[in-house]
Amino acid sequence: MAIKHSLYLRYFSVDDLTQVYNLACQALSERYDPTLFMTISSSWPEGFIVVGSPSGIKAFILGVTTSPMSARILMFAVCPEMRGMGIGTILMGRFLEECRKKGIRVVSLEVRKSNNAAIRFYYKAGFQSVDVIRHYYNDGEDAYLMQMFL
Ligand SMILES: CC(C)(COP(=O)(O)OP(=O)(O)OC[C@H]1O[C@@H](n2cnc3c(N)ncnc32)[C@H](O)[C@@H]1OP(=O)(O)O)[C@@H](O)C(=O)NCCC(=O)NCCS
Repeated sequence: MAIKHSLYLRYFSVDDLTQVYNLACQALSERYDPTLFMTISSSWPEGFIVVGSPSGIKAFILGVTTSPMSARILMFAVCPEMRGMGIGTILMGRFLEECRKKGIRVVSLEVRKSNNAAIRFYYKAGFQSVDVIRHYYNDGEDAYLMQMFL
């Protein structure tokens, strides 16, 4: 599916692993084992969506199902030079569409208390903060648990 500026949405494929991993390292504070991406993608391929461009992957979202009717977003990132252009909104919209197709009724995620940009993003997308998880991150920072009912 084409979006804008020669960008398009598609499911993750194994050839994307290095670029997605590099973007995760650049944009997210936690570190993940590269094999995790493959394991997760095989459990629900439609929940792992990338934004591609002629020069490579510019954004991705990675979700898992946690029960037949619930999903959790594990990772979500847009490359720094393309933030604030609506790409995250388009990607989240597509992810939620995949959730609805699968019969998911509730989507949850954790976000750092200090990550104001992401918190604003999630509120605008329709998520609500439902709890605080103390010391959720490796450096001890708390997380907001956010949820959206579909
Ligand atoms: C969070 C993130 C994915 C948002 O993607 P994006 O493509 O920049 O978001 P959009 O351009 O679609 O923004 C949609 C809305 O989110 C909010 N928003 C996005 N960036 C914001 C910022 N820096 N400050 C405040 N609000 C912001 C705004 O309400 C915006 O709507 P507006 O443009 O009408 O004001 C992106 O900032 C990112 O990759 N951040 C680093 C990684 C990260 O923190 N991931 C989430 C981990 S839980």
